[in-house]
Amino acid sequence: MTRTDGLWVTFEGGDGSGKSTQSALLSTWLGEQGRTVLHTREPGGSEVGVLIRDIVLHHRGDIAPRAEALLYAADRAHHVATVVRPALERGDVVIQDRYLDSSVAYQGAGRVLDAGEVRDLSLWATEGALPDLTVLLDIDPALARQRLDADDKPFDRLEAEKEEFHARVRAAFLALAAAEPQRFLVVDATADPDDIAVLVRARIARLL
Ligand code: TYD
Repeated sequence: MTRTDGLWVTFEGGDGSGKSTQSALLSTWLGEQGRTVLHTREPGGSEVGVLIRDIVLHHRGDIAPRAEALLYAADRAHHVATVVRPALERGDVVIQDRYLDSSVAYQGAGRVLDAGEVRDLSLWATEGALPDLTVLLDIDPALARQRLDADDKPFDRLEAEKEEFHARVRAAFLALAAAEPQRFLVVDATADPDDIAVLVRARIARLL
């Protein structure tokens, strides 16, 4: 992707892994360092994306796995074209909750679509855009489920999937990280949130 000196960091992990806490801590820290930060997410990081998010997370009843993959890819295509790429071209730092690795893990391993095809779909959608760094917050899905239960929020369509689904998603994330160690930082999501934030900042500092 052609761009100036922007930096793009994505956060990945299972539901209840603490991604949003960590991405918020990093955004605040980078702001304190004087960087212009765009904190965004998928699905739902654009106006069109908010509508797609409502379908994929809250539609009552089944969505065919390929339709679900296309909806996430459509959200991603619009988000990258209208939000992420312009920010990176301005030289901003983009901190993002979830990106294409979520599709490979959830629609690929979770819904059992071909992982390579799911990845290629997202790469087509975004003209091959990949982040500079992806932080994977790794956690046993059974523990993550306890955290979600404690939150007392109703489960969305994906969160409501059974434990085997979330175990496949976790294994897929770890395999993605092992395949691209230069792009990924894997952290134990059960560690103290402040300690995790320190690890993430140390890695980012090397990229700035
Ligand atoms: P998220 O915004 O992390 O949920 P919450 O706001 O409740 O923390 O993600 C919404 C769900 O969408 C999550 O269960 C993972 C799923 N998802 C996919 O299945 N594929 C994708 O490509 C993306 C981006 C998310």
